[in-house]
Amino acid sequence: MSIKTSYKEALNNKIFEVISQASQELNVESYVIGGFVRDLILNRDFKKDIDIVAVGSGIELALKVSQLLPKKPKVQVFKTYGTAMLRFEDTEIEFVGARKESYHFESRNPVVENGSLEDDQNRRDFTINALALSLNEKNFGELSDPFNGLEDLKNKIIRTPLDPDITFSDDPLRMLRGIRFANQLGFEIEEHSLNSITKNAERIKIISGERIVDELNKILSTDKPSIGFLLLFKTGLLDIILPELTALNQVEEIEGHTHKNNFYHTLEVVDNICPNTDDVWLRWAALLHDIGKAPTKRFNKKQGWTFHGHEFLGGKMAKKIFERLHMPLNQKMKFVQKMVMMSSRPIVLSQDTVTDSAVRRLVFDAGEDVENLMTLCEADITTKNPNKFKKYHSNFEIVRKKIVEVEERDHVRNFQPPITGEEIMEIFNLKPSKEIGMLKEAIKEAILEGEIPNEYQAAYDFMLKRATKIGLKINAC
Ligand code: CTP
Repeated sequence: MSIKTSYKEALNNKIFEVISQASQELNVESYVIGGFVRDLILNRDFKKDIDIVAVGSGIELALKVSQLLPKKPKVQVFKTYGTAMLRFEDTEIEFVGARKESYHFESRNPVVENGSLEDDQNRRDFTINALALSLNEKNFGELSDPFNGLEDLKNKIIRTPLDPDITFSDDPLRMLRGIRFANQLGFEIEEHSLNSITKNAERIKIISGERIVDELNKILSTDKPSIGFLLLFKTGLLDIILPELTALNQVEEIEGHTHKNNFYHTLEVVDNICPNTDDVWLRWAALLHDIGKAPTKRFNKKQGWTFHGHEFLGGKMAKKIFERLHMPLNQKMKFVQKMVMMSSRPIVLSQDTVTDSAVRRLVFDAGEDVENLMTLCEADITTKNPNKFKKYHSNFEIVRKKIVEVEERDHVRNFQPPITGEEIMEIFNLKPSKEIGMLKEAIKEAILEGEIPNEYQAAYDFMLKRATKIGLKINAC
């Protein structure tokens, strides 16, 4: 990376010109700082928001900028924190006054004491995020880099500007941010900063679930989330945030029987699924798919190690995690829970001879999510035995083909009974009763077993035969 200190040409977005003019009119200095500058120098895809720091009032600067813009965009003011935001084209522009303290990054305790640019840079999270570019007329585009952030960018280092114990205690979420940046950017966390994360890990407990999950989602959205999760594990953060996962880090041996380390297996599954899906919720399902294994693990002489019912328990545990971390308790949660609960189904299928009826049942139970389930289960194949690996994958191919065939014929994905309860009542002149349920169930079973196709006439004939057996007669009128 070539080191240069002026980025004048790069600041060609019209907004910088306007901010510069507004600063001049108000006689305050202003700088673009943080992620925008970092990503600009890294040549990374530009992020959607731009952070501006004013050596003076950020709110006044934002209001002035809005006045100068042709469309006079609305300024959102957060008085308590001394910050303001406006939208320009597709970009959110955040304004903040330079502070001596860094409390503006968290909502707990807004202490406002005006400071210089350097005071503000001091209290930012990492040297690479403290880089600032001047928007002032006298030195527009000049880089301010008091902590050698440029050098750290070049050497791919995550380092705090101050003693890391201070930086992390200002806002413990930064421990997670550091790990997330290391993962996203492919950087190393410098030794003191990393040791400080381990030392201060417990402090993450004061951070809200929502903020933690934001970071976990960003880690899960990288190409290789295991890097981030291993750092979380090594520093002790994972034990606090997701103890259900670290509980999987065990291998026991009894009478020569061992089982795999399900923690490392899980991380492999998460990495495996990444090339096949960008859906962060499916990646969550990969992360949680085995969490029921720690509490269900048993040993018996006949079978060795077993994890009976781990999928069901795992699904329930996933819901508790969503609740604890204040994650959305909506369809996303239900999806993850369903994936965890069904996570062994295709694997079991692919180990045996694949029958149509088993595939039909899989499609029936998984519904719209059957492709996602297949993607999850394929990622779950981490066997190091090349023969087994090949066999499972080719069986998965068969399952996939059969899913298409079975779907074309029987449409069981969003199964609607071909004959409704109301029709059955009318045909046999019945009031609501258990016979209706029995007939409906028998029709469904016959379809899933492949005895009859999922069609009205076939279902009707089948129903008549069944009805005769239980002594029902067709309504004569
Ligand atoms: N910042 C900080 N401590 C935090 C959060 C943010 O010091 N806990 C500072 C950093 O200087 C950061 C800037 O505020 O660069 C903007 O924060 P944010 O938009 O959250 O992150 P970015 O660094 O811009 O990166 P990303 O959008 O990838 O999160």
